[in-house]
Amino acid sequence: MKQSSVCRSCYRALLTALGIFVILAGVLAAYGWYKFFREEAQPAWITQDPDMRFKYGSIGAENDAGIPYWIFYVLPRMFPDKLPGPGGYASFGVAWEQGQELPIGFTKKTIGFPRVANTCSVCHTASYRVSEDSNPVYVLTGPNHTLNLEAFFRFLIDCAKDPRFNPDNMMAEIRLVTDLSWVDRLIYRFLLIPITKKRLLERESQFAWLYHPAFPEWGRGRDDAMNLTKYFMIRWPMDDSFGPTDMPSVWNLGKYKADQGMRMNFAGDSHDAYSVVIDSALGLLGAPPKDNEVFLKNIRWMLDYLVAARAPAYPFPIDPALAEKGKAVFDAQCATCHASARTGTIVPVDEVGTDRNRMDTWNERAAREANEVVQKMGITRKGLVEEPLTGYVAAFLDGIWLRAPYLHNGSVPSLKDLLEPPANRPSVFWRGYDVYDPERVGFRHDGEEARRIGTRHDVAAKGGGNQGHEFGTHLPPGEKAALLEYLKTL
Ligand code: HEC
Ligand code: HEC
Repeated sequence: MKQSSVCRSCYRALLTALGIFVILAGVLAAYGWYKFFREEAQPAWITQDPDMRFKYGSIGAENDAGIPYWIFYVLPRMFPDKLPGPGGYASFGVAWEQGQELPIGFTKKTIGFPRVANTCSVCHTASYRVSEDSNPVYVLTGPNHTLNLEAFFRFLIDCAKDPRFNPDNMMAEIRLVTDLSWVDRLIYRFLLIPITKKRLLERESQFAWLYHPAFPEWGRGRDDAMNLTKYFMIRWPMDDSFGPTDMPSVWNLGKYKADQGMRMNFAGDSHDAYSVVIDSALGLLGAPPKDNEVFLKNIRWMLDYLVAARAPAYPFPIDPALAEKGKAVFDAQCATCHASARTGTIVPVDEVGTDRNRMDTWNERAAREANEVVQKMGITRKGLVEEPLTGYVAAFLDGIWLRAPYLHNGSVPSLKDLLEPPANRPSVFWRGYDVYDPERVGFRHDGEEARRIGTRHDVAAKGGGNQGHEFGTHLPPGEKAALLEYLKTL
C-alpha cells in the first residue's frame, strides 16, 4: 500500500520533471530555430520593385553561401592588406550606389541572423562614366567590366587562412561598429566565427586554380565560369585549362531561340536561357535549393526580367548620315553572322580564329555530369549541351558599345581596335576603368587613371590572345569610320 503510494509520487515527480524538460527543450528548440533558421522577408522596397529586386533581392543563396552580416562588415577593416587597393569592398570594382548599405549584387537577408550573399547583378550590372568628373551610370543586366572577381574570391580565402581571423580579434572589431546582445555575442563568438572560417577554408581546394602559379590574373571584368562549374558543381580535380571570359550582357534574352539551333554562353555550351539561369543560380547557392518550388519561382521571375530588359542607347551624339553608310558596310561584311540565321549559333573556331582556351575549359563529359547533378536535385531543364565544343557563338550585337572590351576573352579594348588586324591591336592595355572613350568606342584603356584603377591585360598571357575575328580589318578607313558609327546605334 505504502510502497505503491511512494511509487506513485515517484512517478508523478518523474512526470513533472519530464514535462519541464520537454517544455524547456521545446523552448530551447524554438529559440534555436528563431536564432538560426527563422526566415524574415526582405523589405518591400526590395521585393516590390523589379529593378531593386534584381539588384538586391535574394535568390536563396544566403542559406548555404551566406556570410554572417557582421563578419562580412568587419573583414575589410581587419584585413585591408588583403584588398587589391584602398576603399574596402569598393576596391573590387563592385557597382555601389550612393546611399546603399551594400553594393549591387549583394543581398542581405535574415535567416536566423542577418546574412550577406550574392545575386546575378553582381556580375551582370555595367557601369560607365561619360567623363572623368561625372558620376557613374549603372546599367542593370549589362556586363560588369570593373569587377575583380578573382581578387574577391582570394580575399575571402586569404582572410580565413589568416590567424587573425579568430573570435577574439573579430569580436573586438565587431564591438567597435555595433552593439550585439549578450546572446548574439555568444553566438558569434562560439558558432558563427569558427563555422564561417571553417566553411571558407573548406572551399580552398576547389579554389586552388586561383593560385595556380602558371596562370595570369583574370583581371577586372573577367570570370573563369566553366572552371568554376567544374570545380564546384561536379568537383573535378584541377586541370591545366584556363579560360576567363568577359561578363556578358544578359538583356533581351528572348532573342535566343533554342528551337532555331541557337546556343548560349560564349562557346555555346548551354541550350537555352532557362537552363543558364538555373545553372547560374545553383552556382550562387552552392548547394541544392531548400525548396525547389520557391527556387523555380525565383528563376521564372529572373528570366522574365531578363527577357524584358533592353540594351541602353549610346549616350553620346551619333552622326546619322555616317551611320546610314555604315549600315551598308555592316550588311555586306558582318550581317552574314551578326544579323542572320547564323546569329546565336556556333561558328567553328577555325573560321573565327579567336583564342581557344575558353573552349578547352569544358567538355562533353563535364556537361553530362553537371546535368546529372541538377537532375538529381529534381530540377528539369534542357541543360548543358552534351557534345564536344567546336567554336564560339556569333554574338548578338545589341548594346555592343557597352560591352567593351571585346571578344569572349575581352582581349580587344575597343571597337575601333577590333577593326584593325590583330598585329595592330593593343598588345597590353588596362581593363576595368569606367570612363568611356567615344573616339575608339570602348573604355579608356591607358593613361594614368586607367593604369591606377584597371588591371593589366597582356595578350601574350594564357587565355588572353587577341588573334582572329579579322572581319572588316581590310576595309578602307572611310568605311571603317562609317561602320563604327553604325555599331554605336545597335
Ligand atoms: C560571378 C559572376 C556571375 C554571376 C554571379 C552570374 N553570372 Fe551569368 N555569366 C557570367 C559569365 C562570366 C558568363 C559567361 C560564361 C561563359 O560563357 O564562359 C555568364 C553567362 C550568363 C548568361 C548567358 C549569356 C549569353 O548571352 O549567352 C546568362 C543568361 C546569365 N549568365 C545569367 C545569369 C543569371 C540569371 C545569374 C543569377 C542567377 C547569373 N548569370 C549570375 C558571370 C556571372
Ligand atoms: C563568320 C562569322 C562572322 C562575321 C562575318 C563577323 N563576325 Fe563578329 N563575331 C563572330 C563570332 C563567332 C564572334 C565571337 C568570337 C569570340 O568571342 O571569340 C564575334 C564577335 C564579334 C564582336 C564581339 C562581341 C563581344 O561581345 O565582345 C563584335 C563587336 C563583332 N563580332 C563585330 C563584327 C563586325 C563589325 C563584323 C563585320 C565587319 C563582324 N563581326 C563579322 C562571327 C562573325
